[in-house]
Amino acid sequence: MTNSETKATLSFSDGSPSLEMPIYKGSIGPDVIDIRKLYGATGKFTYDPGFMSTAACNSSITYIDGDKGELLYRGYPIEQLAVNGGDFLETCYLLLNGELPNAAQKEEFVSTVTKHTMVHEQMQFFFRGFRRDAHPMSVLVGTVGALSSFYHDSLDINDPHHREVSAIRLIAKMPTLVAMAYKYSIGQPFVYPRNDLSYSANFMHMMFSTPCEEYKVNEVLVRALDRILILHADHEQNASTSTVRLAGSSGANPFACIAAGIACLWGPAHGGANEAALSMLEEIGSVDNITHFISQVKDKNSGVKLMGFGHRVYKNYDPRAKLMRETCYEVLQELGLQDDPLFKLAMALEKIALEDEYFVSRKLYPNVDFYSGIVQRALGIPTALFTGIFALARTVGWIAQWKEMISDPEQKIGRPRQLFVGAAKRDVVAIDKR
Ligand code: CMC
Repeated sequence: MTNSETKATLSFSDGSPSLEMPIYKGSIGPDVIDIRKLYGATGKFTYDPGFMSTAACNSSITYIDGDKGELLYRGYPIEQLAVNGGDFLETCYLLLNGELPNAAQKEEFVSTVTKHTMVHEQMQFFFRGFRRDAHPMSVLVGTVGALSSFYHDSLDINDPHHREVSAIRLIAKMPTLVAMAYKYSIGQPFVYPRNDLSYSANFMHMMFSTPCEEYKVNEVLVRALDRILILHADHEQNASTSTVRLAGSSGANPFACIAAGIACLWGPAHGGANEAALSMLEEIGSVDNITHFISQVKDKNSGVKLMGFGHRVYKNYDPRAKLMRETCYEVLQELGLQDDPLFKLAMALEKIALEDEYFVSRKLYPNVDFYSGIVQRALGIPTALFTGIFALARTVGWIAQWKEMISDPEQKIGRPRQLFVGAAKRDVVAIDKR
């Protein structure tokens, strides 16, 4: 934690003594007021549902400026990483280690990850316990959590080598597990990884090859998948990352923590939004229905939201959405689907929403999920697996944040307080007297 040069003074109108609290400066972004002594000095907690104003940790991994629409991984703008920052594994190295790799470091990292792509053979029996129509996210919560019963040799969270091995295992095995979840759902045999392929090409191979026919890798589609992974790799202290940190703060093993993160990501307000955005476009169906749909969104009683729009932090265009729209265009061109009706519908909907007072006044812009569903659908990925792809991409961010937390000397078990509004102490009355 940086030293405090300025202080905040908090005074109370109820006669409690005023309190001086240090203010810390980050390298960029808002200052924070250190309120750790508040309860001891005043007997009062702060109240902040949804953590709208609370920094729960210090971190040097990812920075978002929501007003500018800027996203930096270790200081590098997402646009540069996505366009000329190399492949997804380079981004993984950056997030985990703080710097982009040189050629030798990259080669070693890729080779290490590649050696861990297989999962324990016993895992396939674990898969068979699921119904074939289980949602892939429920399968992933179960199977990723189950990794902790297969890899006992990397569970000592106090051993930096164990932490490193677990991180590599998770990054390497997630594509295998996501592809297995898909294959299981359609009743096809699991496809083993091919270590001569790149990370993304191997994932496509495990998804789309069968024992009868090898999937022919298309470089444009592989690059598109790689970009999806880079754009989703980390996003500072979002709900699932905070879940991973909270689970990890008790000393739980990394596989269990990532399973917790996957569970949180599943929700439609978070990672589930890409699936929800595509379903929404399908439901709207045609450009002619946009006006009616927008009027439903504006009606607070309808419960309808414009999925893929709005963000807790971005109050400007999500920089990932711009890159995703570009990728969407490239992929549809490559596949000869430039007249794709859902893409046209999405662009028309975006244009109308960006000019509508409801969205303008609330600073609601497209987020990464608005176009990612269309890209994934074009790649052949089924809708139910979209959030699984998000989980695959975010695993590196989760594990980098988990590692950062474990080595932070200020780390404590996460334990929020509450404003209790229930019954005060009272006596139990016998059942015949109630
Ligand atoms: N459609 C319609 N109205 C919206 C939307 C939306 N998508 N998002 C926010 N609003 C309204 C909201 O009703 C509120 O209106 P009012 O001030 O009249 O009560 C106002 O905008 C402020 O919204 P909020 O609920 O305070 O914003 P939040 O920061 O709590 O929520 C959000 C952020 C992402 C949960 C929300 O915008 C949302 O539900 N969006 C749709 C789901 C979605 O696309 N999620 C993906 C997020 S990006 C991927 C990820 O990181 O997981």
